[in-house]
Amino acid sequence: MGKILVTGGAGYVGSVCSSELLAHGHEVVVVDDLSAGHMDALPKGARFYRADIGDAEAIRSITAEHHIDAAFHFAAKALIPESVTNPALFFKVNVSSSLALLEVLRTAGVKKFVFSSSAAVYGNPTSMPIDEDAPKAPVNSYGETKLCFERALAWYASAYGISAVAFRYFNASGAAGGFGEDHRPETHIIPLLLQAATGNREHFTIFGEDYQTPDGTCLRDYVHVTDIARAHILALQVDSPGFVAYNIGTGQSYSVRQVWKTAEDVLGRPINVCVGKRRPGDPAVLCANPSKIKKELGWIPKQSDLRNIIQTAWNWMEERRPGPPLATGSPSQVRTRPRTTPARPFE
Ligand code: UFG
Repeated sequence: MGKILVTGGAGYVGSVCSSELLAHGHEVVVVDDLSAGHMDALPKGARFYRADIGDAEAIRSITAEHHIDAAFHFAAKALIPESVTNPALFFKVNVSSSLALLEVLRTAGVKKFVFSSSAAVYGNPTSMPIDEDAPKAPVNSYGETKLCFERALAWYASAYGISAVAFRYFNASGAAGGFGEDHRPETHIIPLLLQAATGNREHFTIFGEDYQTPDGTCLRDYVHVTDIARAHILALQVDSPGFVAYNIGTGQSYSVRQVWKTAEDVLGRPINVCVGKRRPGDPAVLCANPSKIKKELGWIPKQSDLRNIIQTAWNWMEERRPGPPLATGSPSQVRTRPRTTPARPFE
């Protein structure tokens, strides 16, 4: 058991990972400036420091107070549309502040570092599914800054004997143990579809149906946040110095239309949808080859069935919604649809 520093531990993936670490008997020290995270997402039992990861003095005093065995670095700017319009902010937080953090941890002697990277490092992939050696050509500053930090981390790992793991998440989704997706503003498909299902949003807009895909809409590889958290726990076993990157995805992809239809089916209610223009920076298809993480870390996705992802996200959203629960599948209140077989991924 160890003491793990978790940056961004009040955010979506960070809170689920913190809670998984605590469940495995680790001590958790969360650093979060609450610019995107929420206090109510902080798991019970975690020590909390409200600080900016780029504030070297603050991080130094935390490492002086706690003997940190490993760091999980989630804190980042992550909204793709914002990364297109405001790259300065992304370079500041995801590169400059992250490097300041890494440097403090290095001088404090922390030898394990797990970095929350992204499939965005690949940009518009040239072949599918994507393996870790695929060309890196980010199409937004989010992906560029994640790649930039990965590269710095690789140099740190080889020169200073750090065991560094970068996880390139595909589409993190679903909810677990009271923690779920709550970005403000929300830009992600599943919470937006669920908001449209409750009437909190007039409709969901499909961003383009003229892609070269079977139904014209983009394909993504959705992976449950609990499976992502489990990968992080497995990464604690890696103790050889050096840098290694792993995809976290299932190897199956679903179109925007399939996600919409599956959400209607899971919820048993209609979701208003309209078709809009393509969103700049969206690749047509993103699908992981997860062989490396399966082989080397023994990771297998257990919760990432699309229906389970949608159901857990819905349960979480419903728990937080004031008022009585909304009926799902009740013929008197919602449009009924025949139960269909689960959406099959395009492979
Ligand atoms: N989409 C819509 N309408 C919406 C929102 C999304 O049609 O209102 C579509 C997108 O065009 C995309 C799919 O739903 O095809 C998924 O979009 P998300 O915004 O939920 O997720 P992204 O695929 O854009 O982004 C995710 C992660 C990023 C990561 C990226 C890899 O959230 O962190 O995958 O490119 F970088």
